[in-house]
Amino acid sequence: MWIAITRDVSGSLGGCELSFVPRTEIDIGLAARQHHAYRQALEALGCRVLSLPAQDAMPDAVFVEDVALVFDEVAIMTRPGAESRRVEGASVADVLAEYRPLRAIDAPGTLDGGDVLRVDRTVYVGQSARSNAAAIEQLRELLSGYGYTVQAVPTRGCLHLKSAVTQVADDTLLVQPAWVDPAVFADYKLIEVDPAEEHAANALRIGAGVIYPACFPHTRQRLEAAGIAVTAVDLSELQKAEGATTCCSLVFRENALR
Ligand code: GLY
Repeated sequence: MWIAITRDVSGSLGGCELSFVPRTEIDIGLAARQHHAYRQALEALGCRVLSLPAQDAMPDAVFVEDVALVFDEVAIMTRPGAESRRVEGASVADVLAEYRPLRAIDAPGTLDGGDVLRVDRTVYVGQSARSNAAAIEQLRELLSGYGYTVQAVPTRGCLHLKSAVTQVADDTLLVQPAWVDPAVFADYKLIEVDPAEEHAANALRIGAGVIYPACFPHTRQRLEAAGIAVTAVDLSELQKAEGATTCCSLVFRENALR
């Protein structure tokens, strides 16, 4: 059984952190409906969805991915790079403690979950404005005993590593070559985003398929041509908040080691 932790959209989402997209008006009602449909897509793909209540004092709290990393053996609470987001983790930690032993990134480390891409036993970490060398070193130390290798990856022009590259099949990554050097991932098959769809590299893999934004039809065709089953969702309002498909959930196996 897969668990997906989510959190309802905050009424204050319009006051979110923004780094690489301009601030435009967000329709909160539409954002909530889109988020509901996203959760339904998670359920349709076999996840048990846990929904935390919205936190109106935390505009970005819907983006639960950034506050924790969940491995089969352990969960690690991050210390988000944006100070406004450091209060978001406590209620997620309360839930994760039921499933995994918990560890944490400490100051001066800063790390956003959106910067962490695990592929098998390799953990790629974006060197972004949100995630620093101190956190990457702490993560390396925390995970070394479990047999994971941590590799730092420079990013450019985007918020997170997973804005630039995500896993879409066992041996296949979806990549935006303008934002990360594809040579880092030379061991995998790579699908490049369509050049007209700049933000199209973020897909949420669940089993044999992906949850994917409906607004990137050309890249979707590339995914489907590679045999990847795509569940399309409209996330326009969450994208205005610099969110994407992976940001809105923390997905993990309930009993990974049993
Ligand atoms: N609005 C998402 C973030 O900047 O963290």
